[in-house]
Amino acid sequence: MRSTKTTESWIEQELGPFGPAAIKPYSRTRFATDGSALLKVYVGIDPEGRRLREAATVARAALRGISVPAVLATGNDEIGSWTAFPVVDGTPCSVGTHNATEEYIGYVVAVSDRLHRPTAGANPGSGWAAWRAGSASSRQFLLDQFSPRCRWLPWWAVLREALQPIDSHLVVHLHGDLKPEHFLVDGELLHVVDWEASARGPAVLDYTDVVFHLVRDLLYEGVPPGRIPVDLVTRLPFSGPVLAWRLLLWLDRRRPQDIDLVTTRAVYRLAAEEQAASAYMSLAQTVALLRAAGVPR
Ligand SMILES: Nc1ncnc2c1ncn2[C@@H]1O[C@H](COP(=O)(O)OP(=O)(O)O)[C@@H](O)[C@H]1O
Ligand SMILES: [Mg+2]
Repeated sequence: MRSTKTTESWIEQELGPFGPAAIKPYSRTRFATDGSALLKVYVGIDPEGRRLREAATVARAALRGISVPAVLATGNDEIGSWTAFPVVDGTPCSVGTHNATEEYIGYVVAVSDRLHRPTAGANPGSGWAAWRAGSASSRQFLLDQFSPRCRWLPWWAVLREALQPIDSHLVVHLHGDLKPEHFLVDGELLHVVDWEASARGPAVLDYTDVVFHLVRDLLYEGVPPGRIPVDLVTRLPFSGPVLAWRLLLWLDRRRPQDIDLVTTRAVYRLAAEEQAASAYMSLAQTVALLRAAGVPR
């Protein structure tokens, strides 16, 4: 087994030196000082599973004609689980202005055309690799992502029931974490990064993520609920039950008591919404209340 020193110095020598780490709850990323490589160390929940998933999906996404930085090197050793990528040129998308948001949504639609192509025989589950175990159904895949305590909360039965229709949706390959900072625009080129949450499931999961991030992030930057540009995202496929699920999953991963802040009635109403625009407005109002209650982003 290589010592920490050996592995670290191998990476530093071959790909570095690297600058300071950007530290997040589930990763530490460092850019090479010459701007050529990015080193990502996976931490927190299932680092090794996320490393393997990202490396496997990156190769497959490139085959679909999506521009994805290839894996330069990857390992699981004394440093932990890590992957190095070549740095691509490009500016992350943003939702800072109406025009920027419109452009971003255009990219989402363009990438989805390649990403969400029908995939024969795919079963719902995490990652793209065919050998990966999956869930019995899309609904079960979504419910399995909650922490076990949620099963005993009052809204569980309501959400479970509401999610039933998604079992008839086609199962496709998903990015799993679509948001502006994962779209890097370099002139005519668009690079898509961060494939560690890749999955198989209904395409509406990816679209719901796009909308959820847009609404939550603007609200947390202080934009009032009435000023969220929901009109820009109503062209995306929509599911009220999946939107309710996404909100609850976010809360489940916040502070331990945050999940108790949402009422069964609010879950029921969101899941029953048939119109995207009114569902997104109701999501915005709920998230604004949660923010006011101190829920961290
Ligand atoms: N290959 C790359 N080239 C340039 N920038 C990148 C590359 N990969 C990631 N980034 C930038 O670094 C950020 C963090 O990388 P990401 O893979 O999303 O890690 P994390 O798991 O920490 O979110 C991304 O949001 C993106 O803006
Ligand atoms: Mg990321």
